[in-house]
Amino acid sequence: MSGSNPVDQAHDRHPSTDGQGSPRIPNPSGFVSLVGAGPGCPDLITLRGLNALAAAEVVLYDALLDPAFIGYFPERALTLSVGKRCGQVQAEQSDIHRLMIEHALCGRRVVRLKGGDPLIFGRGGEETQALEAAGIPFEVIPGVSALQAGAAGAGFPLTHRGVSRRVTVLEGHHLPETAAAWRDLVASGGTIAVYMGTRTIQALSRSLLDHGAAPTLPVALVEQAQCPGQTSTFSTLAHAAAGALRPATRGPGLFFIGEALHHRFHPTLEISHEPLAPVSGSAREARARGGRRERRAS
Ligand SMILES: C[S@@+](CC[C@H](N)C(=O)[O-])C[C@H]1O[C@@H](n2cnc3c(N)ncnc32)[C@H](O)[C@@H]1O
Repeated sequence: MSGSNPVDQAHDRHPSTDGQGSPRIPNPSGFVSLVGAGPGCPDLITLRGLNALAAAEVVLYDALLDPAFIGYFPERALTLSVGKRCGQVQAEQSDIHRLMIEHALCGRRVVRLKGGDPLIFGRGGEETQALEAAGIPFEVIPGVSALQAGAAGAGFPLTHRGVSRRVTVLEGHHLPETAAAWRDLVASGGTIAVYMGTRTIQALSRSLLDHGAAPTLPVALVEQAQCPGQTSTFSTLAHAAAGALRPATRGPGLFFIGEALHHRFHPTLEISHEPLAPVSGSAREARARGGRRERRAS
């Protein structure tokens, strides 16, 4: 969808009036499913999510999803990219709320397909609040978050008996602001996972060192986790603080820190992940693309 605002185009196809200008009567069969699509590859969506998609009359999907997902969209459904990606026409969050609500009020089954899990840095909280305020029945279908995809794909546990009993999830754009908060983070002793943090790796690593973290603490940057072209780069906190750990791709990446990363395993890469529902040729081709790469920063 390019050119004019995609949200306006959606309105043209399913107007909320009856054609003579009178508003449609809210229809009780309208329903919204917030569906977690997983980390980007089309075979990591859940079966429940796939079933919701199969029944969808309207699909509002994030731009970051692999185009192969389109193979799952029912042919009759109105499908609309409302995701956020630099340099492209984007829908405002308020437009997304309005679209979900208006289509549901018209009696349609709406799927709001979101990357990873809808409730982890996915604005799922805001979307559920908007639906609740409008009295729209909805459900949230969880998805595999980048956190789980990154650890499983790169090959380390997030928790490990006697080593890491806590997982702290951070947003790279909003790091701790006080010395006490940094010290608490270091003292937590678990695994730290930083979403949206590939640009702040060095600053974050320096702050952790400044507040008492061990320079030898293992770190990893996992990019495009569980997708074709996955890359994982392992290093130490000291090297990351020195600027040695840089993204290898333009794809999304998650930065991990913690002793649990010492307990690595090496998943066999040749396992075939066949989806449970028929997918289009484009989905199959996407899965067949490229292997995974592993690097060491130093
Ligand atoms: C707006 S957040 C959405 C997170 C999503 N709701 C989830 O649960 O994974 C986007 C960030 O998630 C991370 N991310 C998403 N998919 C990823 C992937 N396949 N590999 C690595 N990181 C990913 C990146 O840090 C990216 O900047």
